[in-house]
Amino acid sequence: MTKLGVIVGSTRKNSFSKQWADNIVTLYPEGTEVEFLDIANLPLYNQDLDENSPQAYTDFREAVKRQDLILFVTPEHNRTISAALKNALDVASRPWGQSVWNGKPALIASQSISGIAGSNANKDMLKILGFLNMPVAGQPEVMLGNSQELLKDGKAPQGTLDFLQTAVDAHVALLK
Ligand SMILES: Cc1cc2nc3c(=O)[nH]c(=O)nc-3n(C[C@H](O)[C@H](O)[C@H](O)COP(=O)(O)O)c2cc1C
Repeated sequence: MTKLGVIVGSTRKNSFSKQWADNIVTLYPEGTEVEFLDIANLPLYNQDLDENSPQAYTDFREAVKRQDLILFVTPEHNRTISAALKNALDVASRPWGQSVWNGKPALIASQSISGIAGSNANKDMLKILGFLNMPVAGQPEVMLGNSQELLKDGKAPQGTLDFLQTAVDAHVALLK
């Protein structure tokens, strides 16, 4: 059974990123095991802790390790990804040589309440995931704008879901 790890880059209670993630996970093949990986309680990454990591780091690294696919849904904060998401990426990338991201196929979805749809965050994620050696479904690019208008009671419109389905299919196709 395919395991899908979902990382939502916003820790906000009513996060639009989380609402998009809830929509996107429904589009994976039946039987996909979905696990949302919490990033809110990870202490700020500190290299001194590589030797003797806090339990929260260990748990998060283990959670990433058991996934076959990773879906990132990121907001845009000041023209890049959120600090919480960057922290999570850093935590699971270390100690050096033991990154648990290595080789895991990823799908990046960015979203924002503006028309630019988190495109800066999306491109910054591409840069980071390239370095972390994660194959990324490059097309279609998932940049979701005006989230507060598109999401009605948390539900995406059918046209957007149809588009997202093509992105999910491209993600699943990266599985070996
Ligand atoms: C600190 C901060 C910086 C932001 N910077 C941007 C930005 O650069 N571009 C953008 O489109 N929206 C920006 N926004 C608005 C976010 O797109 C909006 O708050 C979005 O809902 C965040 O995602 P969330 O609902 O999952 O928390 C910013 C919001 C915050 C809180």
